[in-house]
This record gives sequence, C-alpha cells and structure tokens, in this order.
Amino acid sequence: MSELSVNHLLGIKYLNKKDIQLIFETADHFKEVINRPIKKVPSLRDITIANLFFENSTRTKLSFELAEKRLSADVINFSASQSSVKKGETLIDTVNNILSMKVDMVVMRHPNPGSGIFLSKHVKASIINAGDGAHEHPTQALLDSYSIREKLGDVKGKNVVIVGDILHSRVALSNIFALKLQGANVKVCGPKTLMPKHIEKLGIKVETNLRDALNWCDVANMLRVQNERMEISYFPSTREYTQQFGVTKNLLDSLDKDIIIMHPGPINRGVEITSDVADSDQAIILDQVENGVAIRMAVIYLLASKIKQ
Ligand code: CP
Repeated sequence: MSELSVNHLLGIKYLNKKDIQLIFETADHFKEVINRPIKKVPSLRDITIANLFFENSTRTKLSFELAEKRLSADVINFSASQSSVKKGETLIDTVNNILSMKVDMVVMRHPNPGSGIFLSKHVKASIINAGDGAHEHPTQALLDSYSIREKLGDVKGKNVVIVGDILHSRVALSNIFALKLQGANVKVCGPKTLMPKHIEKLGIKVETNLRDALNWCDVANMLRVQNERMEISYFPSTREYTQQFGVTKNLLDSLDKDIIIMHPGPINRGVEITSDVADSDQAIILDQVENGVAIRMAVIYLLASKIKQ
C-alpha cells in the first residue's frame, strides 16, 4: 500500500511529488464521501486529534475540525487566548499536557515560523502545520493545487501567478513549493517592497506589471496584504496599492483570455480584488474552501495510517 514519505506535515518543502499525488488521490475518494447523504466514514474511530490555534482562523480551523469529525476521530479544540498559555506555560509543556490525555495527532497554527518543526522534535505525536507565521501553510497549498487540478485537469505546465504581499505570506511559499514540484510555471507579482530578496532562486519569475502577469497566466492566486505582520509601511497608501495590484472586473474583462481567480481568504474586498471579481464565475474561492475539507481528510487519514503501524 502507498504511504506518505513523512510522519508529520510540517511544510510542502518536506514532501515529494508522489506524496502530493497520493494526497490528491485520497482526497478524490473523500470528496466523493462528503458529497454523500451520510458524509461520515469510521476510518479514525481510534484516533484523537487536538487542534491548537495560537492565532486566529476561520477556514483552516473549521475545515480541520470538520475533516476530523467526518473521519470519526475524537476531537479536542484549544484556543491560546482562553488557555494557561496566558499564565506563562511553554509550548512544549502545553502540548505534553494535552498529549498525556492520550492524544495522537496535533494540528497547530502558530505565529512563529518553524514552531511545528520545533514541536515535532520535542513531543511524541504526529504534527500538522496549519500555518506557522510567514513560513508555510501546507494544507492551503495542497487544496489550491487540488482546485487547479480539478478545474484545469492538471497542474503540470500551467501558468500560475501569485499576486500581492509575497514577503509576509506563508501561502505564497507553500504554493511555490507545491506548484514547482508538480511542474507548473510560477510567477509572483506585487510591489518590490513586498517581494522577498532572491525569491527567483526558488525557480520562479518576478513580474511587477499586473496586466502582463494576468495576460501570461492561466490562474491568478490573489493574496491579502497582511497588515498584521507589518511594522512599517511598504507602499504609500491602500488606494495606490489597489490601483497597481488590485484586480477589477474591467481589468479581467480586458484580458486576452478567461483566467481563473483564486484567493486563500480572508478577502479584503475592494483592495486586492473587487467584489464583482470575487463573486464572478471566474473565481473558484468557495471551491477552494470545499476542497479544503477533502484535502485535510486525506492528510489526516494518511498520517494516521502511519501512527497505527
Ligand atoms: N486561508 C486561511 O488560512 O484562512 P484562515 O486564516 O481563516 O484559516
């Protein structure tokens, strides 16, 4: 039987092409399951999962919880703001206390880059990174590529541009790794101040003209400007950012072809995309969210199979 090459999902960087194929094939099965009248399977009745969120989330948190429940796992939820972290407890102490309640797997979102990697070296549980600072957001990149595959048949050979605040984005880095692994052509587009130095070394191109980037691509993945990670101003004003890097319906309609618009959410309507673009037939934003449940079921199921061995 095929299995993942890893015991944790810490980042796309640690996966290979076969891992991604296996996750997608497993997600195809679970997507069929969640569209049945009875959306549940008994696969993980013997597994307990803790969802640890040290940072806000809507989609990822609910999607993981639903994926776990659809697989019949026992689920506990932890929110840092209501926990003893506020009394000074360390991350390792917090997690070891949770694990002593016979927890098998930890899904963690944390503001510090590398926190999942750190945890995986100090505790005995399978760790899934649900976003670590500006580092990686692997399940988001998997559901993004899965959504491209669903819409265009394959990711290989497709032209994908990631637009916006690349510097502060874990979604951008995980997407670049995932898309390159699958043979897509990748560009990033945004203000030079929001572009990491030497990003071309990842095998991608930088484009500063949005119209040129959109005319080149099959898919545009639009990112939010992450003001919460900025201590200084990176561009003169939101209005000027929108004029240069925002996608409007007029711009979309003036292109040579119909491209696909993606967004990981949350959207700042009227900044990176206007409402008529977000709600247009070209946008697959809610399909991405739907696919997130099947992808997370696949990741949890495949990692749990390794715990059971
Ligand atoms: N895409 C994403 O990570 O959204 P949330 O922050 O709402 O989980």
